[in-house]
Amino acid sequence: MHTRDFELREWQLSDAASLAENANNIHIWNNLRDYFPHPYWEEDGKQFIGMTLGKPLPATEMALVIDGKAVGGIGIVLKTDVERIGAEIGYWLGENYWNRGVMTEAVKEMVSYVFLHFPEIRKIYATSFDFNIASQRVLQKAGFEREGILKQAAMKNGKVINLHYYSILKSPK
Ligand SMILES: CC(C)(COP(=O)(O)OP(=O)(O)OC[C@H]1O[C@@H](n2cnc3c(N)ncnc32)[C@H](O)[C@@H]1OP(=O)(O)O)[C@@H](O)C(=O)NCCC(=O)NCCS
Repeated sequence: MHTRDFELREWQLSDAASLAENANNIHIWNNLRDYFPHPYWEEDGKQFIGMTLGKPLPATEMALVIDGKAVGGIGIVLKTDVERIGAEIGYWLGENYWNRGVMTEAVKEMVSYVFLHFPEIRKIYATSFDFNIASQRVLQKAGFEREGILKQAAMKNGKVINLHYYSILKSPK
């Protein structure tokens, strides 16, 4: 599959079934925050999509669509208060589509979109669990720099883990 054979667009309620089908995967959940549902039911998808539709534009959550089906997601959380110049990016992709360069291209596209549509945002960052080499590769390939390692910063599946903090700046100054 050519890496460009995907589209990022806003979520639609009709995506719920495909969202659940692709998101319901322990290999995905193991690399995400615990608030990501597992198991992931269609009802979870509807709830998530409803939440995104209720947010003001420009959209902060995008569906990653391949062959007309929403098979992944990418989104940002806008920071607040003194950190309001930053946004945290997060993403996941259905396992059938891994290791074809898709998410690298999607992250690049999302970064351009965010810097264009959210003028106050100067910095986009991600924190990856230390064992999540695939995500760290995605961030490196998309132009992010590893600023540091946050020691013992998270607990997942009963284990204390380090977080790798990656960022990309709108302007280096
Ligand atoms: C992380 C994720 C989005 C990557 O999507 P993807 O489309 O497969 O990513 P890409 O194909 O663009 O790049 C993956 C890179 O990781 C590499 N990789 C994958 N698994 C690896 C492993 N176990 N060890 C070393 N490298 C690995 C691939 O070879 C590729 O690098 P390369 O192009 O240099 O060969 C996908 O694996 C996923 O959804 N994981 C679960 C959720 C998740 O981790 N989200 C991010 C949380 S920070």
